[in-house]
Amino acid sequence: MTRTSSSDTQPGRRRRLALGALLLPLGLSAGACSGGLTDSPIQNTTTTTPEVFVVEGRPLRLRSGRLHRARSRRGHSHITDRYALWLAPDVRAALADHWRDQAELEHASVVAFHDLARRLEVVDAPDHLIRGALHAAEQEADHAGRCFDLAARYLGVSLRPGRLRRPRRLPRPRTTELANLAVEALRDGVVNEGYAAWLATARIATTTDHIVRATLEVIAHDEQHHADLSAAVLAWCLAEGGAPVHAAVHAAAHALPDRMVACVVPAGLDRKALASHGYSDPDPDGSAYRTIRDAAVAALSTTVSTTLSEPATDRRTTGRQTRPTRHPQQGTGRTATPCAAQPA
Ligand SMILES: [Fe+2]
Ligand SMILES: [Fe+2]
Repeated sequence: MTRTSSSDTQPGRRRRLALGALLLPLGLSAGACSGGLTDSPIQNTTTTTPEVFVVEGRPLRLRSGRLHRARSRRGHSHITDRYALWLAPDVRAALADHWRDQAELEHASVVAFHDLARRLEVVDAPDHLIRGALHAAEQEADHAGRCFDLAARYLGVSLRPGRLRRPRRLPRPRTTELANLAVEALRDGVVNEGYAAWLATARIATTTDHIVRATLEVIAHDEQHHADLSAAVLAWCLAEGGAPVHAAVHAAAHALPDRMVACVVPAGLDRKALASHGYSDPDPDGSAYRTIRDAAVAALSTTVSTTLSEPATDRRTTGRQTRPTRHPQQGTGRTATPCAAQPA
């Protein structure tokens, strides 16, 4: 292959290296000057998300409990999509922001499930729970890839995910870790991912774009699967950890928020166009969230009473599963019947 770019010649390369050496102490890079643009602030490449917003994936929590994700960066490839080009520029920009946001959260979910698998291993959880967490990580990676592709489609430029590492965990007493795992399984898995599955299913009803629809169908199916996995983890932790875990989970159940915000759709834009590309809030009054939350709490009470009535020997050998009742409007996955909810 013959290189034609002058910047790839030896003198050009030397010039770029010299420029890089000059800019490095200033916190800049030669790449940023030669077209490797980023719209992420260099000093702050990570961000946190308020807990009241639903995380469409498994939330990645730091040791402090705060949510974490990595900001993505613009790549170098220009993307032209005729379906996206039909949209007004402000709608396209809003869709790019929305899907980029989703992609970053899904990307963080990959690390969150690897972290979960590791923690389950440490507390000697059954193999099927550990394998389930690893499989969920693969599914989250698929979601992230699909969402980054969608964001790039509206942005017109490819996107690169930021770098994330599994949070460092200090050794904890086993009961403490079981309580933490149980609380996270309830809050982040059963409730959050269950609601994320409902939202994805609901958005399918107003989506006309076939690529967005296919993405939402996959996400709706997988997120419900992740919520079910969390219910199994929760049941096992309750059975294994005894009274301290029960107390922690009950406290967490009472502290569940009254409202989780799906997303904030910008005012003044064509909402129908946004909804047809998957950007809508199908639960503006939060009623679907409360139904899912209340079903999770009711299922928790059933699991606790069953666990307490079981002999201890049975508890150690079985991972009893508790599944929250699906919302009446919720579909069943990739071939789900779209729910009747309408965008705001
Ligand atoms: Fe998930
Ligand atoms: Fe996901």
